[in-house]
Amino acid sequence: MPAAQHIERDQDLAMSSDELLQAQLELYHHGLAFVKSLALKAATDLRIPDTIHRRGGAATLSELASDTGIHPTKRSNLRRVMRVLTTTGVFSIVQGKGSNDHAGDGAAYYKLTRVSRLLVERSPHNLSPMVGTIVNTLCWTSLLKMPEWFTQGQEGESAQSHSLVQLANGCTFWDTTKVDGGLFNDGMAADSRIAMKVLLKEHGGAFGEVKSSLVDIGGNHGATASAVARAFPHLKCTVLDLAHVVAAAPASDILTFVAGNMFEYVPPADAVLLKWILHDWKHEDCVKIMRRCKEAIPAKEAGGKVIIIDMVVGYPVTQPNDSIEAQVLLDIYMMGSDGMEREENVWSLIFSEAGFSDYKITPTNGIRSIIEVYP
Ligand SMILES: C[S@@+](CC[C@H](N)C(=O)[O-])C[C@H]1O[C@@H](n2cnc3c(N)ncnc32)[C@H](O)[C@@H]1O
Repeated sequence: MPAAQHIERDQDLAMSSDELLQAQLELYHHGLAFVKSLALKAATDLRIPDTIHRRGGAATLSELASDTGIHPTKRSNLRRVMRVLTTTGVFSIVQGKGSNDHAGDGAAYYKLTRVSRLLVERSPHNLSPMVGTIVNTLCWTSLLKMPEWFTQGQEGESAQSHSLVQLANGCTFWDTTKVDGGLFNDGMAADSRIAMKVLLKEHGGAFGEVKSSLVDIGGNHGATASAVARAFPHLKCTVLDLAHVVAAAPASDILTFVAGNMFEYVPPADAVLLKWILHDWKHEDCVKIMRRCKEAIPAKEAGGKVIIIDMVVGYPVTQPNDSIEAQVLLDIYMMGSDGMEREENVWSLIFSEAGFSDYKITPTNGIRSIIEVYP
């Protein structure tokens, strides 16, 4: 490029002092976003939400420190972590009238917010296992490999045939769930308990109209299917999952567990449920799974359908910004293991390639939608 053009381009980089400082602030803010995740993980692992709850909903720093076993030399550091978490809305802080002590907390009380109420172990909405499922070394080591992964590949292979998880850890994501001490399964069960409570209450019709049987594919330990079976006792509910997952599932008198591979066989039923399954897989695999589902259900006129609970990125367009941001962040998390979060046009392509004729999307107030797909 001629020198004059360089100079002209460099002028594009010029900024006023205010712009420069604002840009620097924004860059540091983005770069440090990981600290929020790690502070959340620390507070969850230290069971700070449980301590606040046990103490009647408010606790001082000294109480948090003594109840959670914080070493006396680290107490002021706990305050710093709590400052991040109150600034980001995970906890709230109420200033008391006492004078400030060495740690600077004075008579301040920390309280739960709607976010940290989800992290109290005895809550029926306890979502704390999901924090460990999202914030973990596997995910970090994988995503740190992004620049290397993006520039690797061989002719003829699909862009994602070697996942970030494989590149960073030498094994697949599903291999890691076999040896994580149940962390992943606990996270899934916690998510299902909350999601299904709301979905069945607000959008139960999608399940209520199923004639007499439903099979939950990749149904893990049955948290989702149990909720459906309890809400709609007329449904005979079956859970299909991999053999090692089914072997560790708790006994149930309302569910039938089947060990198997969804790429090979889906047990016949009036409806097939896929909650948080297709986002784990690349396009061609989703088409294969959907074809198996189609073989398992009756025709549309006879009530056959597939019910998918997953994200439809950017749908509806009126979603709040934090919902869209969570969707696109989760998409990158899923990229680590070859999965993806999809826009409506991509879902539509999967359905038509798998031979389905129609679908209906019902958005929820959360980040996921219910997609009913008809043969
Ligand atoms: C992201 S989890 C979703 C679990 C559950 N549906 C939920 O939402 O809580 C994906 C599930 O798919 C299962 N799975 C993975 N590969 C499978 C396969 N080939 N056949 C059947 N299940 C599989 C996993 O064991 C896991 O339980």
